[in-house]
Amino acid sequence: QAERTLVLIKPDGVQRGLVGEILRRIERKGLRLARLELRTVDDATARAHYAEHEGKGFFPSLLEFITSGPLVAAVVEGDRAIPAFRQLAGGTDPVDKATPGSIRGDFGLITQFNLVHGSDSPESAAREIALWFPES
Ligand code: CMP
Repeated sequence: QAERTLVLIKPDGVQRGLVGEILRRIERKGLRLARLELRTVDDATARAHYAEHEGKGFFPSLLEFITSGPLVAAVVEGDRAIPAFRQLAGGTDPVDKATPGSIRGDFGLITQFNLVHGSDSPESAAREIALWFPES
């Protein structure tokens, strides 16, 4: 039974030309792209997306980064899509947490510039998909 998750390829991933590589990994895993769009996000959307991190030291810098250029927003669908994408992504810290073979483990170096975002729970996925793709 299909589950949906919100995936972002952050501005660092787009700028480094890793969109194709990352989408390829999602597709090879057997997950499906239900929605896919290149867009530059405004401050309000970025704040809403990262509301749980408001007040943390890295929040202003995170907002600046995520609004700095085009990113890819996608709804990814499939069996256990939420944990399946998090497995593909690897842990938040690309060196200490993400293992080789994961997107962050293979291509990331700095925690803020960790290339991708994936919803961390069904509740987050519902909230994030409604925020990024309100028409769906
Ligand atoms: P993400 O999975 O999108 O969720 C929150 C984001 O904040 C995270 O990926 C990183 O890009 C960023 N982040 C989390 N922790 C830190 C940190 N300690 N320093 C800088 N950025 C961070």
